[in-house]
Amino acid sequence: MYKKLLVAAAAATMMMGLTVCAEGETIGVAMPTQDLQRWNQDGENMKAQLEEKGYVVDLQYAGNDVQTQVSQIENMIANGDQLLVLASIEGDSLGTVLATAKEAGIPVIAYDRLIMNTDAVSYYATFDNYLVGKTQGEYIVDALDLENQDGPFNLEMVTGDPGDNNVNFFFGGAMDVLQPYIDEGKLVVPSGQMTKDEVATAAWDTATAQSRFENILSSYYADGTNLDAVLASNDSTALGVVNALAANYTGEYPVITGQDCDIANVPHIVDGTQAMSVFKDTRTLASKVVEMVDAIMTGAEVPVNDEETYDNGTGVIPSFLCEPVAVTVDNYKEMLIDSGYYTEDQIEG
Ligand code: BGC
Repeated sequence: MYKKLLVAAAAATMMMGLTVCAEGETIGVAMPTQDLQRWNQDGENMKAQLEEKGYVVDLQYAGNDVQTQVSQIENMIANGDQLLVLASIEGDSLGTVLATAKEAGIPVIAYDRLIMNTDAVSYYATFDNYLVGKTQGEYIVDALDLENQDGPFNLEMVTGDPGDNNVNFFFGGAMDVLQPYIDEGKLVVPSGQMTKDEVATAAWDTATAQSRFENILSSYYADGTNLDAVLASNDSTALGVVNALAANYTGEYPVITGQDCDIANVPHIVDGTQAMSVFKDTRTLASKVVEMVDAIMTGAEVPVNDEETYDNGTGVIPSFLCEPVAVTVDNYKEMLIDSGYYTEDQIEG
């Protein structure tokens, strides 16, 4: 009995010790850019939630510049940050700096985007990226009723930065759904642009997507050919498509997909110029990552729910995948406003 009590007391002291120890420690959080709305939200959510738990937060944005991000991480290591949470700009560019982190014994969590080809990454937290792409593909299949209609329907595709590992999952998930209909001849891609590289958009940039799409419209649709659907992997690229169509297209309006439910895109979802977006509640991702951070810092069990999907080239990284949800005009109020994600004013601008 006495011995049991002693063990319990020792365990409690140890836990208290570790908790006290973790509080006040600095967590480095590196986000890719402030240009896109979501990363601002991700950064703010992470900072607020970590601070609530007593951590000091070293939050940095890199303006989508890889070298800036590398320097920021070097500084985090030099400043003695205890753990790094990193949303990479280019998945393959952090190997060298993270080797230093590993040497210094600093754990690394890859945030939203997997960091490739380095064994310094301990955990990965993201949304189910394959499901994001699959949801977009399925939306197009349903909207065009491809099970029952022969078409052929015209489809074009716009995805994101080829250095972002998520693109493989977004585009791969969508193509796993759409390719059979392309093979059957129900879907046709008039531009012929179908490989990952052909449909990529450097830095997920709206203007880049727009100018590629203007070229597609003037080369393949200027004769009155109808465009039926556009697979756009996220909202910043969907916006480029919407802009290009507004100025250069008079045919029947296509079904356009997206992702993130950016404020700029919500009015398009409401007026039908963008059929859907995939909502990824950044509050959920942030709170999961904060749980992971806290578990690592206190020596507790780290929450993961996927240990097979995300191989970064050095092996599978234990991951937590949050669930994405399709948003349309029918449920945007419930998902975005009633949930407190946006206020009505934000959306009405
Ligand atoms: C994220 C998307 C985002 C895109 C552009 C991806 O890695 O998962 O949510 O739209 O980057 O920032």
